[in-house]
Amino acid sequence: MITQWFGTRRKNKVELHLHLDGAVRVETFLDVARRRGIELPTRTPEGLARYVRVAHDCRSLTQFLATFDFFIPIIQDGEAIERIAYELCEDQARVGVRYFEARFSPQLLARDGLAVEEVVERVLVGLERGQRAFEVGARAILCCMRHRPDWSMEVVRLAVRYREHGVVGIDLAGDESRFGAELHAEAYRAAREMGLHRTVHAGEAGPAHNIREALDLLGAERIGHGYRLVDDEELYARVREEDIPLECCLTSSLQTGSVPDLATHPVRRFVLDGLNVSLSTDDPSVSGIDLEHEYRLALSDLGFGLADLTRMVFNAARSSFLPPAEQRRLIAELKREYLPPDVL
Ligand code: ADE
Ligand code: ZN
Repeated sequence: MITQWFGTRRKNKVELHLHLDGAVRVETFLDVARRRGIELPTRTPEGLARYVRVAHDCRSLTQFLATFDFFIPIIQDGEAIERIAYELCEDQARVGVRYFEARFSPQLLARDGLAVEEVVERVLVGLERGQRAFEVGARAILCCMRHRPDWSMEVVRLAVRYREHGVVGIDLAGDESRFGAELHAEAYRAAREMGLHRTVHAGEAGPAHNIREALDLLGAERIGHGYRLVDDEELYARVREEDIPLECCLTSSLQTGSVPDLATHPVRRFVLDGLNVSLSTDDPSVSGIDLEHEYRLALSDLGFGLADLTRMVFNAARSSFLPPAEQRRLIAELKREYLPPDVL
């Protein structure tokens, strides 16, 4: 049963919370650095892995995010960005993903002089090529950054401009333990008025209050992580009542110090209480994992069964930012994956 669920020829998973720049192959960093004449401290994949992955003892979001400071300068390049998006489709197809949403900050990848439009276009072209080559569905979410509220309105403008070309919404990423949400309220209001979908990282390394702010101040439709919900019963009840999707991650939540161990992971309670939970990797190359690893962890360390995993896949599908008709098609395709042919 378990082997069947994870069989490589199945496309039975959906991933909502995945950072494009946290999902880059080590070999790609090496190639791009070589081509661009960037000196690296090491030339071997094993050597470089030590720089682009978090340390084994990483237990804070600030330390986790510091990893990005090392490799973001390497990929300030249109060709590299397109390649990363393309390869991500291949990597996702390999672990049985049928549909995913990849997020990134256009400005973070444009710091060396690329136009933000080119960054977005390169990602969309890479995803478009990758979708066709590997038979996987992919859309983009543009990230506002907690520490750069001055970028947020431009993120909204870009999301509107490219909404017909694969951008499905916006996010607020970065260090919530150091920067509040209020500075992004105006941009999120504009996004809402323009009919853009909205998710927000909240209650990961910050308190439950940040989740309330994400919902009330930013009009978030989904919450990235949301673990600290367990500290506020009233908010917990509201999130359950309103069926607000929680994009949860296992390994990254340990590495960011958001959760002390899997045995007490809030996701266990979320699932028991029937909250709208789905599983994602967050930053697979930084964490040194893939989505299959996370699903297996849910079985081995959280005590979940295949029925729980399946429910999380369908939660992800019905909470995706796809337009309704495309979402219905995705759900119908997934049903065919899960039900034996004679039932249909
Ligand atoms: N950017 C990449 N990974 C992140 C995380 N786990 N939290 C906030 N911002 C991020
Ligand atoms: Zn994230």
